[in-house]
Amino acid sequence: MRSGNATDPLWYKDAIIYELHVKCFYDSNNDGIGDFAGLTQKLDYLQNLGITCIWLLPFCPSPMRDDGYDIARYDGVHPSYGTLRDFRHFLREAHERSLQVITELVVNHTSDQHPWFQAARQAAPGSSKRDFYVWSDSPLKYQEARIIFTDGETSNWTWDNVAKAYYWHRFFHHQPDLNFDNPNVRRAILRVMRFWLDMGVDGLRLDAVPYLFEREGTNCENLPETHEMLKQLRAEVDRQYENRMLLAEANQWPADVRPYFGEGDECHMAFHFPLMPRIFMALQQEDRHPITEILKQTPDIPDRCQWALFLRNHDELTLEMVTDEERDYMYRAYAADPQMRLNLGIRRRLAPLVENSRRRMELLSMLLLSLPGTPVIYYGDEIGMGDNIYLGDRNGVRTPMQWTSDHNAGFSRADPAPLYAPPIMDPVYGYEAINVAAQERSPFSLLHWMKRMIALRRQHKIFGRGTLRFLAVDNRKVLAYARTYEDQTIVAVANLARTAQPATIDLGAYKGLAPVEMIGGAEFPRVGDAPYFLTLAPYASYWFALVRNPPPVSVRPAPVAVEKPEERAPLLAGTAWDTLLDGHVRVLLERDCLPGFLKRQRWFGGKSRTMRAARFVDWSVVRRGLEPAFVTLVDVEYTTGPRRIPTSASS
Ligand code: NOJ
Ligand code: CA
Repeated sequence: MRSGNATDPLWYKDAIIYELHVKCFYDSNNDGIGDFAGLTQKLDYLQNLGITCIWLLPFCPSPMRDDGYDIARYDGVHPSYGTLRDFRHFLREAHERSLQVITELVVNHTSDQHPWFQAARQAAPGSSKRDFYVWSDSPLKYQEARIIFTDGETSNWTWDNVAKAYYWHRFFHHQPDLNFDNPNVRRAILRVMRFWLDMGVDGLRLDAVPYLFEREGTNCENLPETHEMLKQLRAEVDRQYENRMLLAEANQWPADVRPYFGEGDECHMAFHFPLMPRIFMALQQEDRHPITEILKQTPDIPDRCQWALFLRNHDELTLEMVTDEERDYMYRAYAADPQMRLNLGIRRRLAPLVENSRRRMELLSMLLLSLPGTPVIYYGDEIGMGDNIYLGDRNGVRTPMQWTSDHNAGFSRADPAPLYAPPIMDPVYGYEAINVAAQERSPFSLLHWMKRMIALRRQHKIFGRGTLRFLAVDNRKVLAYARTYEDQTIVAVANLARTAQPATIDLGAYKGLAPVEMIGGAEFPRVGDAPYFLTLAPYASYWFALVRNPPPVSVRPAPVAVEKPEERAPLLAGTAWDTLLDGHVRVLLERDCLPGFLKRQRWFGGKSRTMRAARFVDWSVVRRGLEPAFVTLVDVEYTTGPRRIPTSASS
C-alpha cells in the first residue's frame, strides 16, 4: 500500500480546493510563462489563504491547442513549466505544508500529436495499434451524440488522410478519442494513473469521463461500459494506494452523475454542474427556488462520497445543464454582449459576472462554503480578478495572477510581448486596482474576508460532512438551511435580494437553542415557540451555530436596551485567530482593549502603576482539535519604572 500525504482517508470531505494553471501563477525564470519553480515560491501564499488542496490544470507536454487537455505525452512536464524534478520538488513542498495536490487524468482523448495516434494512423486497420482510437469509413455513425464545442466543431468525426478513415472526437478535431473497447488502451490508462499516484499526487480529476465508450443508438454518454471501466480504475486505487481520491468531471444532470459514485466503488467525488448556474439564477431572480429545486432533485450519495462545488472555473460558465428557457435567461442576465458567450456558456469570471459587487461576491462565496460538498475556488477569484472576453476561446479567464501593481502584475519580469497572455489592465479589474499585495495591506479587503471565512469553515467539520435540510421561510428571497453533523447544527441564512428583507424562519426543530453568529460570536435570541424572525441587509448572509446550553435566561445579561460600560464594549474582530492581529485590528486592540483587559486579570502584577502603552510582541495559534488556543506575548510600558512582559492566553 502506498500511502498519500493526507492522514485521514476522507480528507477530501474537509478540503478547500484551489484550482490553478501553473502557467498562470508565477513565472520564476522570466520567460513570460508561469512554472513549477514559481508556483513553489507561492505556496506560502496559498497556505496563508487557508486552502488545503491544489488542483493543477494539465501540465504534460502538449501542443497547447486546448490549454494542455490535448496531451502529447502522459508522463512528463511541458518544458515551459520546468521538469519532472521541479514537479516533484513542488509536490514535496506542498506536502510539507500539509497541502494536498490533485492533477488531471485526461482519460477520454489525447492530442493528435501523441505517439499513440501517430502510430495508429499508420497502422494496419484492425491492428491493436490502429484500434487505440475509434475509426470509421463513414461520418454518419453515432448520430445521436451531441457536439460539445458547438462554436468550433461541426461534427464528431474528422477525416484523416494518412489512415484514410474518419476518427472520432467529442471535443476539438485535434483531440482524437481513445478506444476503451481496446484492452490495451485500458491497460495504458491504468499505467498512466499509477505513474502519477506513485509520484505521490493525492487525487486525480477524471476529465470528460462520460464519453469513454460509443454505442450505436445511444447518445454515447454515461454508458454502462464507462462505469465498468471506472470500477476497474477504483479497484486498482484501493488495491495499491491509501488516502487518494478520484474526482469525476461529468457535466450531467444529478441523476446521471449519481452512478459515477457507484456504490462507493467508482469516484470519491464528482462536480455538481447543475447547481452552479442555478446559484447565479437565484441571485439574478432574487428567488431561492432554482437552488432548492436542484438540490431537492439531487440524489443521496454513498457515505464516503462527496460533491465538489464551484462558482467558476477555467472553462466557460457552462449552461449545458439548464433548460432552453433558463439558458436564454442566463444569457440575457449575464452575457448581454455576444462576445461574452462561448459554446453553451459564458466566458466570464466571478467578479465581472456580479458587476464587481463585493456584497454579491461575499454572498456567493458564503453559499459555496456552506452548501453540502467541498468548495473549489478558482485562482484569482479570492481577490476579485476580472477577465478579457476578447482573448479568444476561454483564454479570457486564464490571465496572469495579479500579485502586485508592478510590471506585468508582478507575475513575470519578462517584457510584455512574450507573456503567454496579457494581464488584465482595465481601470476596474486591472492589476493596478486588483492585486494581492494591496489586498494584503488592507484588513477589510476581499482577500482578508476570504481568509477569515476559509479559516472559519475549517474549524467545523460540519460544513464538509453534515446533512442538509432546507428551512421553511415565508419570503422567497431568503434561503435558509440547516447543516447537521453529530450533535452540532449550523443554520445558514442568505438574502438573495439587492434590498433589505424580513424573514420568518421555521426553526421549530431547534426550540430552546440559541443561535450564535459565527463570525462575531454574538448570541441571538433563543428559539422559542414563535417562528424565528430576522431582518436581513441587502445580500446579507449569516451562519449561526445553534448552541444547546447557553446560560439560563435568568443569569444572562439584560436585553439590548441596557448599554454595557464603555470600557467593556466588545471589539468584534471575527473568529479567524490566524489573522486576528493582522493590520489595523491589532492597533485597535492595543489601544482600546488590552490595557483594560490586563488590569482585570487576577494574575497581572502591574495594576497599581500607570500604563503608558501595551503592545502585542508575538502571537501564535495553537490548535487543540476544533477549538484553537491563542497565545500572545505582551509588552507593557509604564510612565515610570521597568517594563513587564505578561503572557496572555485566550481561546
Ligand atoms: C473539460 C475541460 O475542463 C476543458 O477545459 C477541456 O477543453 C475539455 N474537457 C476537453 O478536454
Ligand atoms: Ca517561466
